[in-house]
Amino acid sequence: MDSYHEKDYWDARYRRRGLDRVGSASGTLALGGSGRYNKYLYLLREEALERALSRHRAELRGEQVLDVGCGSGYWADFFQRKGVREYTGIDVSQVAISLVSQRFPHYRFYQGDLGEDFPLRDRFDLVTAFDVLYHITDDSKFEQALMNLSRLCAPNALVVITDYFDDRQTISAAHVKHRSLETYRESLSRHGFEVLSIAPVFYHLGRVVGLTVKDMNHSWMTNFLLAPFYFRGWFTFVLYHLDRLVLPKVDPLSPRAKTKLVLAKRRPN
Ligand SMILES: C[S@@+](CC[C@H](N)C(=O)[O-])C[C@H]1O[C@@H](n2cnc3c(N)ncnc32)[C@H](O)[C@@H]1O
Repeated sequence: MDSYHEKDYWDARYRRRGLDRVGSASGTLALGGSGRYNKYLYLLREEALERALSRHRAELRGEQVLDVGCGSGYWADFFQRKGVREYTGIDVSQVAISLVSQRFPHYRFYQGDLGEDFPLRDRFDLVTAFDVLYHITDDSKFEQALMNLSRLCAPNALVVITDYFDDRQTISAAHVKHRSLETYRESLSRHGFEVLSIAPVFYHLGRVVGLTVKDMNHSWMTNFLLAPFYFRGWFTFVLYHLDRLVLPKVDPLSPRAKTKLVLAKRRPN
């Protein structure tokens, strides 16, 4: 496996692509054209977040929000649209932090590696880590990351994490290690979190996990028959609306439900 150094990797990526081309690898191709595939993936993430928060009667307004791996700026924009005043973003990439702090000058941004000790000492009511923790591939850094998340949470704070949360670990690239739901549960519990809910983010609109026969069996129809159409705007539009209909009813642990969103609560000390 190639060596992966988070800061170098993400700095190079943001320098090459800028802020707006973060997301699904295939989605970034689509961004070269219509960008709709990536846009709908993000809309489904937003809706999954809102469903999870409203189920636990959590309000966004007035919350102190920390967004870990904030680099793309997507969630700064989301929280701004929701009227959140106190938003702080951290990201390992200095390049991303420079770009995003220019775009949102009224919010606070820091460069820092969640997998290491970093200087932020504030405590937050809501901490989000969208598609970030599986980019911390070293297991001891992953533990440190959860310890940091725990330290950054006020008592009863909510934490949002997206990953595949499958029944096994998948390593699909040097910078991607999807840990199992069991690994997350144990680690979250060790660091003072209680998992409140797990919910699918994508169903039809998503992509294959790994390339083994088992993976393909999970979603062969979507991936082989439908993949050529993914980048056609009308087709992503149809799949997006289909997902909006089915997602609230899908078994959260279904292997066909690709990315999932875990909402956890920091137990009071
Ligand atoms: C796939 S992007 C997701 C960006 C954003 N959360 C979103 O949903 O659009 C992963 C982000 O995590 C950041 N990241 C990766 N490893 C990190 C680490 N150890 N500490 C802090 N940020 C990290 C990257 O720089 C990148 O901005």
